[in-house]
Amino acid sequence: LPTIPNGTSLDPTDWDDFRAQAHAALNACLDHVQSIAEGPARDGPVWRPVPDTVKAFFAAPVPRDGMPLERLLEECSTQVMPYATGNLHPRFFGWVHGAGAPVGIVAEMIAATLNANCGGRDHGAIYVERQVIAWCREIFGLPDTTSGVLTVGTSMASVIAIAAARTRTLSAENPDTSRLVGYCSSQVHVALKKAFKLLGFGASQLRVIPAEADFTLSPHRLAEAIATDRAAGHVPFLVIGSAGTVNTGAFDDLGALAEIAAREGMWFHVDGAFGAWARIAGEPLHTLTIGIERADSLAFDFHKWMSVPYDAGCVLIRDGDAHRAAFSEQPDYLARGLALAGGDTWPSDFGIDLSRSFRALKVWMTLRHHGIDQLGRIIAKNCESARHLAAQVERSSLFALAAPVTLNIVCFRLKPQGDDDADDRRIAAVVERLQLDGTAAPSTTRIAGRLCVRVAILNHRTEPADLDLTLRAAEDALPD
Ligand SMILES: Cc1ncc(COP(=O)(O)O)c(C=O)c1O
Repeated sequence: LPTIPNGTSLDPTDWDDFRAQAHAALNACLDHVQSIAEGPARDGPVWRPVPDTVKAFFAAPVPRDGMPLERLLEECSTQVMPYATGNLHPRFFGWVHGAGAPVGIVAEMIAATLNANCGGRDHGAIYVERQVIAWCREIFGLPDTTSGVLTVGTSMASVIAIAAARTRTLSAENPDTSRLVGYCSSQVHVALKKAFKLLGFGASQLRVIPAEADFTLSPHRLAEAIATDRAAGHVPFLVIGSAGTVNTGAFDDLGALAEIAAREGMWFHVDGAFGAWARIAGEPLHTLTIGIERADSLAFDFHKWMSVPYDAGCVLIRDGDAHRAAFSEQPDYLARGLALAGGDTWPSDFGIDLSRSFRALKVWMTLRHHGIDQLGRIIAKNCESARHLAAQVERSSLFALAAPVTLNIVCFRLKPQGDDDADDRRIAAVVERLQLDGTAAPSTTRIAGRLCVRVAILNHRTEPADLDLTLRAAEDALPD
């Protein structure tokens, strides 16, 4: 190896120059968002495909030598920033993407500056996360025994929740997981199925009960399935309810599911990835969430409807001891108690990750900057926009609603023309056209087997006019 001179580090050799470049970068970031919020980019394309030149650029070999920050920022502004997903734009309606709020940019900068490892120890970031967890506990009405941890998203939160449920169910006398069964509706998010699989359960141990016509899990069918399984010697241990399904935004009757779980001595998990936040949106939305406070575990995201930049999810677990029992390990090199190693309980006691980013800061800053009431008003506005779009679809001569609109998701398909497959192809063509033109970015899903345009509204910038424009463009894009 070449001799490394003393004083060599990764710090800038010229801090003034670095500072100037960093300020310029922040300005470029703010310009990017401001332009989407109120400038020319609002009328520009929602998304554009990544050109071959850019794909080729990212096939470059490993850089042996560095380059000045100024040139690097130029590369970011030409090769990265123009090819964003589009979810900041008010006409991005695909999947369940949050738009983020500008305060998150500042939070990310501060978090990166501190470069805190939030697996544990006694430092400020840990208190920020604890406060976020305490606020969530209060918002969702869970008791003081409730523990929680921030996660990448609801997928990881689901893994943690089901692992805790399994730990509490099993005992030294009964360590056998093979007879355990869980229950959910056919509308449950695939994250739950993945979590089950990852935790070593067989696919058949998750009983997927066909959803009702309103896309909810029938408490009656659930009770029947549990009784049948018990009679056959299985051990029902977990009921999964959805607070806002991914396809249509349907809400299971959480109170009724909680009742059954309590009666049967089962763990009640709620997947509230985005819908749980209806809790803060006033009536009638708040009522949908009644029963969530009876959950044994609740998984949800901040990066969807709470406008926190990716990634930020959370799991809350009513029985903090069961949660800790599922994850806590304290080898010698992670001993607790002394000075910086202080604190009995570390976030890493509640999940898989030992090294963790300071994602709590952007959550904490977003909640504090905007306040829960304003964030709730955005949710209510998005739901009102969904009802507005639904009313327009009902008036359309070409499209029809494919599912009731409970929350912020509108699914519509063609009025049946007699050839379902041909209709599906035309719907796919509409969505592809809208995305490629950059007019709007809905996604697709299947409802009752038929392909639909799926419009999920989670963006604080979306106005009714954006939905009118999207529907008109969809009608225009319909191939003959
Ligand atoms: C209802 C529901 N559950 C779970 C998930 C998975 O969440 P994440 O993408 O944060 O892992 C999603 C994602 O859209 C969802 O909508």
